[in-house]
Amino acid sequence: MRAPQRAPQRAMPHLGALLLLLLGLAAMPGRALADAAANVAGRATTSTDGQVIYTQLCQGCHMANARGGVGAARIPALAGNAKLRNGGYPVYVVLNGYGAMPWLSNMLNDAQVAAVVNYVRSHFGNAYTDAVKPEDVAAVRGPDPTIER
Ligand code: HEC
Repeated sequence: MRAPQRAPQRAMPHLGALLLLLLGLAAMPGRALADAAANVAGRATTSTDGQVIYTQLCQGCHMANARGGVGAARIPALAGNAKLRNGGYPVYVVLNGYGAMPWLSNMLNDAQVAAVVNYVRSHFGNAYTDAVKPEDVAAVRGPDPTIER
């Protein structure tokens, strides 16, 4: 008796659906998230200028005006964000990630984290003057997160 034949693989309809999905995503306002993920992946910066780091690493998701957006994920505004009052909070988020935001601890040293956090906390309608120091970042930074097995 012959083994029952497998149904032929039907890859094409799936590809079509995937293409439609991608086209749909590209048309959505949330396309910034996909752009930014590509922007951040494998990318490190040598800049210690908070504004440059923001442009290179953060603005793809949080937008040039730091107002965030809604799309594939909700990206909170950093502009006028009261949660930035305590500098330790953005330091923690940048180092460890949060929800859909990737951790950047392996891309930025302590001085760079401090620079970009200080930039965000003193621009976009935020006016916090108690600058974060690289030593503050070092105190928050733990070992790099690892993927659970
Ligand atoms: C790949 C996209 C992406 C990048 C790049 C990114 N973020 Fe985020 N960020 C997010 C998302 C999404 C959230 C919200 C996570 C949640 O609520 O689950 C977030 C949340 C935050 C928060 C917390 C805001 C709040 O209201 O709680 C801060 C602060 C923050 N990001 C700062 C930064 C800084 C500074 C950079 C650059 C060094 C950066 N982010 C880069 C996507 C990103």
